[in-house]
Amino acid sequence: MRVTVVGLGYVGLVTAACLSEWRHRVTGIEADRRRLDDLRAGTLPIHEPGLDELVARNHQAGMLRFEDLDAMPLAVNRAEVVILAVGTHDGNGGWQTETMRRALADVVPNLRAGTPLVVRSTLPPEFINQLTDLVAELRGLPKPDVPVLLNPEFTQEGRAIVDFIRPSRIICGVAHDPEGLGEARLRRIFASAAATTPFLTMPAIDASFSKLGSNLFLATKISFANELAALCDAYGARIDQVVHAMGLDSRIGSAFLGAGVGFGGSCLPNQVTMTVKTARVAGLLTPLLAAVDDINAAQPGHFVNRLDQVFSGRFAGRRVAILGLTFKPNTDDLREAPSLATSRLLLERGVHVVAYDPMPRAREGAVDMVSGLEVVESVEAALVDADAAMLVTEWAEFAAIDWRRMHSLMRHPVVLDGRNALPAEEMVALGFTYSAFGRGLMAPEPNPIGRRVPTASAASEVA
Ligand code: UGA
Repeated sequence: MRVTVVGLGYVGLVTAACLSEWRHRVTGIEADRRRLDDLRAGTLPIHEPGLDELVARNHQAGMLRFEDLDAMPLAVNRAEVVILAVGTHDGNGGWQTETMRRALADVVPNLRAGTPLVVRSTLPPEFINQLTDLVAELRGLPKPDVPVLLNPEFTQEGRAIVDFIRPSRIICGVAHDPEGLGEARLRRIFASAAATTPFLTMPAIDASFSKLGSNLFLATKISFANELAALCDAYGARIDQVVHAMGLDSRIGSAFLGAGVGFGGSCLPNQVTMTVKTARVAGLLTPLLAAVDDINAAQPGHFVNRLDQVFSGRFAGRRVAILGLTFKPNTDDLREAPSLATSRLLLERGVHVVAYDPMPRAREGAVDMVSGLEVVESVEAALVDADAAMLVTEWAEFAAIDWRRMHSLMRHPVVLDGRNALPAEEMVALGFTYSAFGRGLMAPEPNPIGRRVPTASAASEVA
């Protein structure tokens, strides 16, 4: 099929690349000139495992083309399906629908009658309810003469290709599709995944809430795990054992019960915060989601406070290494990354913060976003002379570090593991004072090696 994808950010580029891999002829439209030139030259604006190869292969084969706004009318007019994947974040933790409104104004008048318009961006629910009327207005008709669908995506950064090619479900949200033509074309687009994937057709507002509800629930699981971890800390229990045991109950499941410094990224934090805010404006209270939000916002503060135990409140002049800047591994995305809040809190307390992340783009971005932050190009450079290391992002390379050697580089061998990513007992056996959410503080001295003590009573001061 001939598919035009408007907007080549995270969602749009992954969609365009994967559809071209499925032998659809895809034209991707990008308004940002620099991004477009980069894409044509083979430089991707984001880091996503496997995406480079997919884009290069299909671009060379002529299955995936990149065009600017001037080419849009023709690309839209020739398409059998048009997918909108423009940004809807305001860059400040909230929604914005201006870009979507502009894209609709550019795209909708150029659609041939009957060509489905598929919205893949995540939008606030109230906007979904206006979509059909907006399209009708732009067509100059009382009712649209094109199907209008919502097709929310459930891809996770860092594994977006796999999630796209083998989705857990495909949702066809119907805003306007009286004869089912839009649904039929969407089924054809996803034909390669259809045999193994449930295809659910439902009203657009339900589709929108399926997406929102999924993300809100994932966020709730994480904040729940973080609250449980605080209880484990206080009573000397061990969160990883606890959630493992809980997760074996199929009603609970073990995914997204990883306690730590909190959830970041462009989706979970923004969607929780905005749902609470917009519900309040509508006169609704969402106390559960408000708590999810509050717990998450407090995690970087709790992380920094864990250092109180080792620094005894004397932070000024200390050197602390931040390991990992991106909001999670296998991406270079810094949006709402807990590393940023953690670094700012440390800097406010007079700490010299030295950060390392494997992604050069993340290192460059973090320096611009956090004034006073120093970034370095290796783990060693971050850890040398450090009074403590704080692991914020569980990149595989941090678990593979030769920690024995790092022990000799650091001024004080103190590791705060913000993701429960390191082998606690081994770290302590190597002589580290080790602290992680829900695992208390473990110190080689004065406590026997590997014995956990509740954080309330733990003490292992550095001079
Ligand atoms: C999230 C959803 O997981 C996707 O299904 C959805 O398609 C996407 O949003 C979206 O709306 O587009 P993503 O933002 O890529 O995907 O990130 P997640 O994998 O959900 O991780 C979010 C944050 O939660 C990360 O900072 C991660 O470190 C944190 N997290 C995750 C935890 O703190 N604990 C966990 O157990 C799992």
